[in-house]
Parts: sequence; structure tokens; C-alpha cells
Amino acid sequence: MNDEVSTGGDDVSEITAVPYHLGIIMDGNGRWAQARGLPRIAGHQAGVDNIKRILEHCVRRGVKVLTVYAFSTENWKRPQEEVSGLMRLLGLTIQRQLKELNKNGVRILHSGRMEGINPHLQKQIRNALEVTKDNDRIVLNVAFNYGGRAEIIDAVRHMMQDRVEPDAVTEDLFSSYLYTGGIPDPDLIIRTGGEWRLSNFLIWQAAYAEYYTTPTYWPEFDEVELDKAFIEYNHRERRFGRVLQK
Ligand code: FPP
Repeated sequence: MNDEVSTGGDDVSEITAVPYHLGIIMDGNGRWAQARGLPRIAGHQAGVDNIKRILEHCVRRGVKVLTVYAFSTENWKRPQEEVSGLMRLLGLTIQRQLKELNKNGVRILHSGRMEGINPHLQKQIRNALEVTKDNDRIVLNVAFNYGGRAEIIDAVRHMMQDRVEPDAVTEDLFSSYLYTGGIPDPDLIIRTGGEWRLSNFLIWQAAYAEYYTTPTYWPEFDEVELDKAFIEYNHRERRFGRVLQK
């Protein structure tokens, strides 16, 4: 990873606080491809390439956890060809990138259900988690076969299996049962592609997150765009329900 910092004309000195945990809804791959007369899967491939660029800039800026929404539980409803293309892409990406990610100190986590993912891909995912488990430069948490409601249901099931007493249920305990257990809640959620929805992404964890959306399609969301989001984040007053004393 190089240390070159792009400014794009924005005043990056305004970035005094960066989110500890950043979540990104990577939308617009299909439209990006369509605009170029390419198949949708070419947009997803460009989207994967962009994760690397943004991850590197997150390291540069000091973000400690990056969660990317790569495949939602709703995405199974897409045409079969696109679904298998996305599955193949994850496998290929692990195959091609794992070594370098590991060398660069990236710890990979997975948020989502393993059930439904083909056994070979499950094995690749487990291996990526195992190989990178001691890395601490940045966490890349890949939300794959992920749904926020499914995550809550899974947490409730586990708590019941553990016979947790009703009185023992607190927000902290519940959070620890989520896929993201142990990771602080996201401070900022970015959505590319122009929509203003959370689309079932980190719905419990995002309760106090700042939300930022841009019409830019994910494959074109670069370092300058990310800095813009960070500058906007620095202009927000995070009150967490309190009244701030001036
Ligand atoms: C939305 O674009 C994007 C997704 C379905 C998820 C993002 C997926 C990737 C970046 C590639 C897969 C990542 C891995 C690690 C395998 P869209 O298709 O909804 O775009 P559109 O709204 O323009 O149609």
C-alpha cells in the first residue's frame, strides 16, 4: 500500500476525526456496467477492484473496521446467472487476493449466514478468516449472504439455545450475539448509487450511525469521494440523543 494522498481540491485538513467503523452499501455496479454496454457482472468485477482501492485509503486515514455489503439475503432473487457470477467472484477474489491482504495486515471477517453458500466457497471463507485472524491493521468485514433481520433472528436463536435468562438480556449482551459481536457499532454508513435506504444493512448496529449517500456508482467511488464523505462526517454533530452544551 502506498502513502500517496489525493485531495481532489477538498480541504482534507478538515478531517480531524475518522470513523472507527465504516459501513458501505456498494450500490450502482449494474448501472455502471450498463452505461458502458457491459454485462452486469463486469460491474461487479469493477466493484471488487474498488474495494481494494477504498480499503487502502481507509488504512491511510485510520479507519479500523470496514464493513462492505457484498451480497444480501435478498440478492438470491436476482437472475441465476448473476447470483452464480457473484458467488464465483467471491471465490476468485479470495483465491487471488488473500495472500496480499494477509501480508498487508488485513483481518477478514464474515457477517452473514453460511447456510445456502456452496460448501467449497464456505471452506474458502473459513480459510480466509483463519489465515488472517491475528492481523490488526484493519478489519475487512464482508457482509455476504447477509440480512439485518436474519442476523437478529440468528442472535435470538443463539440466545435461546444458550438459555439466557430474560432479565439478563441487555443491549450489550444482545450485540455480542450478532455476527459483528465484539466490533464497535459503525459510526458512518455510506451508500453509493444515490438511494437513501439502509436495505437491511446493519439495522441494529446503525442505530446512531451518520448516513451519507452519493449518486456516484460504486466502481467510481474513489479516494477523493471517500474524503468528501469524511469531511461531511466531520461537520456532523454526533449527539447520541443528548443535548450538547455550547
Ligand atoms: C449493487 O449493485 C451491488 C451488489 C449486488 C453488491 C456489491 C457487490 C460487489 C462489489 C461485488 C461482489 C463482492 C464480492 C466480495 C464478491 P447493483 O447490481 O444493485 O447495481 P444497480 O443498482 O446499478 O443495478
